[in-house]
Amino acid sequence: MDELDMKSMVAYLLTQTTEPLVASKQPFKVQLKAGKRYSWCACGHSKKQPFCDGTHKMLATKILPLRFVPDQDCTVWLCGCKHSGRAPYCDGTHKQDFIQKAELPTAPQS
Ligand code: FES
Repeated sequence: MDELDMKSMVAYLLTQTTEPLVASKQPFKVQLKAGKRYSWCACGHSKKQPFCDGTHKMLATKILPLRFVPDQDCTVWLCGCKHSGRAPYCDGTHKQDFIQKAELPTAPQS
């Protein structure tokens, strides 16, 4: 295996995380429309939180977005910490120490 293959293999393995990133230490209050299809980001890497922007295909290939369709217009709290037991909705897990002490992702510098 040459050096380029090794770097590619390492880069690939780094994308195989099964643990979501804590995107936010608070839930997101959002208004949902009845019958509209939503994709909640489960990996925590999306820049369009709390919704999926496709980043999981590069950074967390084993974590898929959670797709759902509300049956009525509603305002809900969607999970931002990505550890809720009733995803995509907040269940209060973000209040636990392991979330409150987690490092948040930083925006890339330009
Ligand atoms: S970007 Fe996180 S699930 Fe798609």
